[in-house]
Amino acid sequence: MTLSLSDIRVHRDGRAILALDELTLRDGEFTAILGHNGSGKSTLMQVMARQMKPDGGMIRLDDQLLERYSQRELARRMAFLPQQLPEVAGLDVRELVRLGRFPWRGLVRRWHRDDATAVDWALEQTSMANYATHLVDELSGGERQRAWIAMLLAQEAPLLLLDEPTSALDLSHQYECMALLSDLNQSAGRGVAVILHDVNLAARYADRVIALKQGEVAFDGTPQAMLSSELLTMLYGIDINLIAQPGTQRPVAVVA
Ligand SMILES: Nc1ncnc2c1ncn2[C@@H]1O[C@H](COP(=O)(O)OP(=O)(O)O)[C@@H](O)[C@H]1O
Ligand SMILES: [Mg+2]
Repeated sequence: MTLSLSDIRVHRDGRAILALDELTLRDGEFTAILGHNGSGKSTLMQVMARQMKPDGGMIRLDDQLLERYSQRELARRMAFLPQQLPEVAGLDVRELVRLGRFPWRGLVRRWHRDDATAVDWALEQTSMANYATHLVDELSGGERQRAWIAMLLAQEAPLLLLDEPTSALDLSHQYECMALLSDLNQSAGRGVAVILHDVNLAARYADRVIALKQGEVAFDGTPQAMLSSELLTMLYGIDINLIAQPGTQRPVAVVA
């Protein structure tokens, strides 16, 4: 799946909160999106996932305008994890994850063995199998986030868009989540775009880093290219050095 945005504008209260000329997520790419709070990351991802209609511009998913896809056609192609997870009163984890199968179930075709396999696999991958019968609303923040990631995986879409999937996770689950996305990217060719706050997670896993500043793209390049730029100081306004990790040569951020 290739997702291309051109001339995208989103205005709120008389100011532009997103202004992009051209931005394309290429097929099978692993992109991390960074930026200060309020830089427009969630707005960008909501526009990409058709959760928000921009005030101007055009978005294509492969060879068709994004707006032309039916709900089901779109859900078969892209899966979106919002930053604010909705409340799901009364649902247990397995029921939530099963919702991820809806694009593959027609009006006629009901539950199928493939659906159960996908649900079990998703629960396993997110270490949530032991929580299958727990109510989602009674989970800890991190478990809830993993339950939602499991739902996203069960959807089996070739393009995954995730808005801060690691924000509530402890350190080991952050790396687990990123390693899982990386594996889906490398072995199954899924495209991944993920909003992160942790520069080191972005540099470790992504092929491409996009940084937003005040709704505009301030950096777009490889993690290695971040090393030679003033990106972090410019983005976060504090003195951060990037050093190349021995072996991978991927950058690691160190606060000066
Ligand atoms: N519905 C809205 N009305 C007014 N301003 C908004 C609205 N949604 C977002 N904003 C503003 O747009 C900017 C970008 O928000 P957002 O995309 O959520 O940033 P990020 O995800 O990078 O933290 C922020 O300044 C935010 O306050
Ligand atoms: Mg956000």
